[in-house]
Amino acid sequence: MPIAEELAKKQRQISIAEFFERNKQILGFDSLTRALITCVKEAVDNSLDACEEAGILPDIIVEIKQIDGDEYKISVEDNGPGIVKSQIPHVFGRLLYGSRFHSLKQSRGQQGIGISAAVLYSQLTTGKPAVITSKIGEGFPAHKIELIIDTKKNLPRIIKEEMVHWKKKSGTRIELFIKGKYVKNRKQSVYEYLRSTAIVNPHARVTFIEPDGNEIVFERVVDKLPEQPKEIKPHPYGIELGTLLKMLKETKAKKISTFLASEFSSVSLQKARQVVAKAGIDENKEPSKITLDEAKKILETFKKIKLMAPPTDCLSP
Ligand SMILES: Nc1ncnc2c1ncn2[C@@H]1O[C@H](COP(=O)(O)OP(=O)(O)OP(=O)(O)O)[C@@H](O)[C@H]1O
Ligand SMILES: [Mg+2]
Repeated sequence: MPIAEELAKKQRQISIAEFFERNKQILGFDSLTRALITCVKEAVDNSLDACEEAGILPDIIVEIKQIDGDEYKISVEDNGPGIVKSQIPHVFGRLLYGSRFHSLKQSRGQQGIGISAAVLYSQLTTGKPAVITSKIGEGFPAHKIELIIDTKKNLPRIIKEEMVHWKKKSGTRIELFIKGKYVKNRKQSVYEYLRSTAIVNPHARVTFIEPDGNEIVFERVVDKLPEQPKEIKPHPYGIELGTLLKMLKETKAKKISTFLASEFSSVSLQKARQVVAKAGIDENKEPSKITLDEAKKILETFKKIKLMAPPTDCLSP
């Protein structure tokens, strides 16, 4: 039997969860100190994103407890919009699952890896499930779910779920048990991370309870949410050929000229017509019929004509 056939038996897909299990450092879990900060950061980032999306002034409580030796319990609680029950397992128990990857709006989170990576790190180092409690509004029950990630399948496995009473109007709390190291008074510490987060998010109140019981409140200094960054269409100067090809396939526009004018920023219909004419393409051609060469031509032509710079209110602070 040819060797290639022997080898073929061993060739198979590697699950992303298994991949990250072996390459923890990629995700910021390379030392015990850093792992603790990363877990807190992923949860706090999500809380800030969720509150901003919902137009709620963030009130975030972070608590770190030493269980014993290098095992810590982290808990991060927010007053955000909450997460519907059916989504909780996917959000926390699956890598690459999130709401922002396909969004054109800037936010802290993007990949749908952040919090599930923290859950994965937690289960790898202590074997304990993550505990998530969430409530989506007044009059709704709170759901408390304990879960782990099935790394072979990259799917959540629910260990326990119950309905609980939670006084909060809405919000989410995540509790993780991890191996970590808590350091005080260092440049790289949870305290410093939360302090600087509070500075760049003056609309947030962040309460931090340290392992020794010491409580610090970083009070909010403004009562107004920052302007929401706008969803922004891509600018023709910054787009990759592959992205353009994908957009050409998916667009609802009937003509290449209207496609360019409606799906890019800083391109008027007049400019779009000018570009296709220069590229030697019929302006009425269907976007899905544009060939690879024509797509390349379009990008090259864009580089040669003058366009307005993209707007800047699409960037969050
Ligand atoms: N505290 C929360 N409140 C409401 N929704 C949340 C909360 N935490 C997570 N989510 C939802 O879960 C999704 C997945 O979170 P996750 O941290 O894994 O990815 P992300 O924030 O989209 O991207 P990144 O990998 O960059 O962190 C988010 O996109 C959001 O929709
Ligand atoms: Mg995130």
